[in-house]
Amino acid sequence: MPEENRIVILTGAGLSAESGLATFRDKGGIWAKYDYREVATPDGFAHNPALVHEFYNLRRRDHARAKPNAAHLALARLEREHGGRVIIITQNVDALHEVAGTKNLIHMHGELLKARCERCKAQHLWTGDLTTETACPACGKRNSMRPDIVWFGEMPYHMEQIADELASAGLFISIGTSGNVYPAAGFVREAKAKGARTLELNLEPSAGVTEFDEAIHGPATVIVPAFVDRLLEKAYPSLRTATTSTCGVKTN
Ligand code: OAD
Repeated sequence: MPEENRIVILTGAGLSAESGLATFRDKGGIWAKYDYREVATPDGFAHNPALVHEFYNLRRRDHARAKPNAAHLALARLEREHGGRVIIITQNVDALHEVAGTKNLIHMHGELLKARCERCKAQHLWTGDLTTETACPACGKRNSMRPDIVWFGEMPYHMEQIADELASAGLFISIGTSGNVYPAAGFVREAKAKGARTLELNLEPSAGVTEFDEAIHGPATVIVPAFVDRLLEKAYPSLRTATTSTCGVKTN
């Protein structure tokens, strides 16, 4: 049963855009420069592991320069100050939610700062580069390490827990995601079917905007802190009656 004070938040690449990390599908985004089949699928890795390592080494180097922005910080504040449960399910592989102070977090697409060995399955924290010559620190095998990222065609992590969280959400918020990649793109329907109110916060209407009860559009660093302020001040009106918002448009 949905509980009014349980908030489930889905985040995507748009949340980290203003921290300097590229999104995937925006103009000039990552998938405009790389073919995802070559760098983000098991087949691509089997075919050319060096290219895949190079791709994620660049992502790790960009990440080393990135800091959480006002939207990450506002969501961490929401978790600390909201009386009920707040959980973030992120598609992002960066660690900016954690650095901002978020504790209750699910990385459904894995983590850039982790690597795992395909032979012995050991998982390691990883901040530097990976190559095909990198030896697994646990078993010593070479040519066996891969980024701990969920690639296309692989099962996202923690799906059972996510289903439980969606089923008991009173409010489901989707932030900075284009709504193109399943299963995450279907979470709004799952949460809504169980009775949650649903809200999109995004730069522009996502592919699934019509699924949401309300949408607020603008840069995450502006609309997320403003929304969190309203929520914590209990000034957030019922979504069923809300018609306007600071930067936003109402959609139904
Ligand atoms: P996308 O690149 O598909 O979408 C990013 C969304 O963020 C778009 O809808 C933008 O309009 C929005 N956006 C951009 N800048 C923003 C800003 N400053 N404030 C608010 N919103 C902004 O990224 P995701 O939806 O996260 O998976 O992509 C989902 C998955 O597809 C990723 O996890 C990744 C990718 O392929 C894998 O690599 C397996």
